[in-house]
Amino acid sequence: MRQKWTSKIGIILAVAGSAVGLGNFLRFPSQAAQNGGGAFMIPYFVSLFLLGIPLIWIEWAIGRYGGLFGHGTAPLIFNRLWKHRASKYFGAIGVFGPLAIFIYYIYIESWLLGYAFYSLKGTCTHLSNQAGAVDFLHKYQGISSKDIFLVTYLFFVLTFIVNFTIIYKGVKGGIERLCKLALPLLFIFAIVIAIRVITLGAPVAGHPDWNISNGFGFLWNPDFKALLNAKVWLAAAGQILFTLSVGIGVIITYASYLSKGDDIILSGLTASSLNEFAEVILGGSIIIPLAFAFFGGAGATEIAQSGSFNIGFVSMPLIFTKINYGMVFSFMWFFLLFLAGLTSSISLLEPAVAFLSDDLGISRKKAVSILGVISFLICQFPIFFLARGVVDEIDFWAGSFFLIVFALAECILFVWIFGIDKAWNEMHHGAELNIPRFYKFIIKYITPLFLIFVLGFWLFQQAVPTFLLKGVARENIPYILATRLGFVMLFIVIAILVRKAHKKHFQVKE
Ligand code: ALA
Repeated sequence: MRQKWTSKIGIILAVAGSAVGLGNFLRFPSQAAQNGGGAFMIPYFVSLFLLGIPLIWIEWAIGRYGGLFGHGTAPLIFNRLWKHRASKYFGAIGVFGPLAIFIYYIYIESWLLGYAFYSLKGTCTHLSNQAGAVDFLHKYQGISSKDIFLVTYLFFVLTFIVNFTIIYKGVKGGIERLCKLALPLLFIFAIVIAIRVITLGAPVAGHPDWNISNGFGFLWNPDFKALLNAKVWLAAAGQILFTLSVGIGVIITYASYLSKGDDIILSGLTASSLNEFAEVILGGSIIIPLAFAFFGGAGATEIAQSGSFNIGFVSMPLIFTKINYGMVFSFMWFFLLFLAGLTSSISLLEPAVAFLSDDLGISRKKAVSILGVISFLICQFPIFFLARGVVDEIDFWAGSFFLIVFALAECILFVWIFGIDKAWNEMHHGAELNIPRFYKFIIKYITPLFLIFVLGFWLFQQAVPTFLLKGVARENIPYILATRLGFVMLFIVIAILVRKAHKKHFQVKE
């Protein structure tokens, strides 16, 4: 008997938990500030309505449909939608992708727990300047010295154990239970911090124009020139997929634990709205306005361009040193990010567990143990070779490229091969809200065309330099190649298992 969610709020919070993550609080503000500030929000909302929301409904519907046959992941569900031998291999991306993201995501998540600990200890809130904060981060990462690397490693092990314990306890006792506790808590922490930010005024003496309202203006005043730049559209589309956790495979798995009569339209919208509130309202109100208020326009630009890690782990601790009760706010910030990361990382593990148990017939407990050992070993690679650009490399392929490929595959399979009319009916089973009819046109034509444009533009502009490792430091090339080789090997192993699962279920000789 497959597991089921015990309540509607349970699945909504679990999907929202998967969506609300490091992407909302770190990736979003940095993407917005780097891509035209307020103008980024136009492609962002266009992508939300034309890509994100249709894909949300498609994934919920595909997942619930697959669950009726006892499948929880894309490989065999795709085969039910399209009886072609290739379909299951496209589906294999839905097991491979989340696992690949998990491999680095969990390591960053563990830093958040570490920084929450160092906030309470006072270490993070006694950093004197930018150089001191960078130095601490590099020590924490084991890049500049190994003095505190053991602590880093222990926090990684602890985070790893927490993740696997939750997954071991299953959908109801693990995932649903955690999300019902963690999501409200992280929202409360984020709202408290956002209120503190909004009421800061102009915190630096002698700089009355470095105030919070100008900080909001810095992020939200549009630079319309940015709209003509295809890269801004690419960044916005990528951010929408990443933040909503669509194109990864995890929502398919979560939705497979629904019953046929359960609503997916309103539930999918509710989970997405929670994510957007966390991203646009909370994520957009904290980092960049704060950075502006403390470092001015030039400083905030520099911070936004220095990437999500620097924003989260360098600028934020520095800012907390300048705020009353900084230790408390710093702890709340890092702990809320840890919870956001945790509710996302468990969702990244679930597809592999579901695949091993549903499709290969391995018991859940055994599946979790096997996965634990294998992923622990693979995680060592980003931990020990972080400085070699390994995390960025995995993030690019697993966190951007494959999301678009997988989203396109599922969209074409469901809408064009399975058929838009059947797909539309499937989505509306048990629906508590009807999708406006014009969305049928959007889902059939606009969403796949948008994805083809994004993929095509990337292939045209960046594929050759990316494959040829342009811009990669010479000494890092072996590590990047090893990462790619590791990816290919992992995919081959998953593809072989998918073939085996297919034979087992359909008793066919290929
Ligand atoms: N959706 C998750 C995030 O935003 C993966 O971090």
